[in-house]
Amino acid sequence: MSGIEEQIDEAKGFLEKQIPFVPKIGIILGTGLTSLTEKMSIDFTIPYRKIPHFPVSTVETHTGNLVFGSWRAYKVAVLQGRVHYYEGYSLQEVTFPVRVMRKLGVSVLIVTNAAGGLDPDFSLGEIMVITDHINLIGHNPLRGANIEKLGIRFPSMHEPYPRDLIIGVEKAANELGIRLRKGVYVAVPGPSLETAAETRFLRTIGADVVGMSTVPEVIAAVHAGMEVLGLSVIANVNIPESPAPVPIEEVVENVQKAEPLFFNLIERFLLGLEQ
Ligand code: HPA
Repeated sequence: MSGIEEQIDEAKGFLEKQIPFVPKIGIILGTGLTSLTEKMSIDFTIPYRKIPHFPVSTVETHTGNLVFGSWRAYKVAVLQGRVHYYEGYSLQEVTFPVRVMRKLGVSVLIVTNAAGGLDPDFSLGEIMVITDHINLIGHNPLRGANIEKLGIRFPSMHEPYPRDLIIGVEKAANELGIRLRKGVYVAVPGPSLETAAETRFLRTIGADVVGMSTVPEVIAAVHAGMEVLGLSVIANVNIPESPAPVPIEEVVENVQKAEPLFFNLIERFLLGLEQ
């Protein structure tokens, strides 16, 4: 067994002893979205620092708890906050929690983030369902020896975000009267934000939003055989013709404004999944 495999098993063993159920849905809550758990029925909250080998966030806006509970008909495991490549973690470390979730039994992963809009039509606080992604981080979480027990060496990425989940969330948005955007997420390493020239470049290569997370987690999830729904909240809109600063306080504020809408959307999506 490789080192990472043992670590995943240890974390899984530790968590399994505390939770009397198998979670089917996993949720990763990004910047400004961590209080979504307040509206769920919570059974257990475990700080990341107590879980063997779990990476601990160094970013103030990211709470570090793994929350187990119920939402609609489902048992859920919620990662309240994540770690990022820019914090100095390797992508293997960044994706460790996703792999543990898979080992615990999670088969559908809902990944959320705050992102910068590249499509000039996008407005602050709007939600975008991710239809595809571009990895510009410059690394891949699957680099190195493949863990055969987790997945194959060359996993296909032809459809990382299954169509039926995208259709499901579009239906949910329709029922709620929410305008849901659709588009491509490009992941950059950060932590510096984009120059005007970089923003123009990212738009030209086909991205609709930019962020510093999500893609490594999705790659690890697809590798491990999970179905992924990706949702971005538009925290700022980057227009290369009129470059403006992107203060982190504003990012968090804009995302928090969208939180109730976001909660309703996921809840309605889960309702559709039950049927
Ligand atoms: N760029 C990169 N990451 C981000 C942004 C952005 O404009 N907004 C939120 N996360």
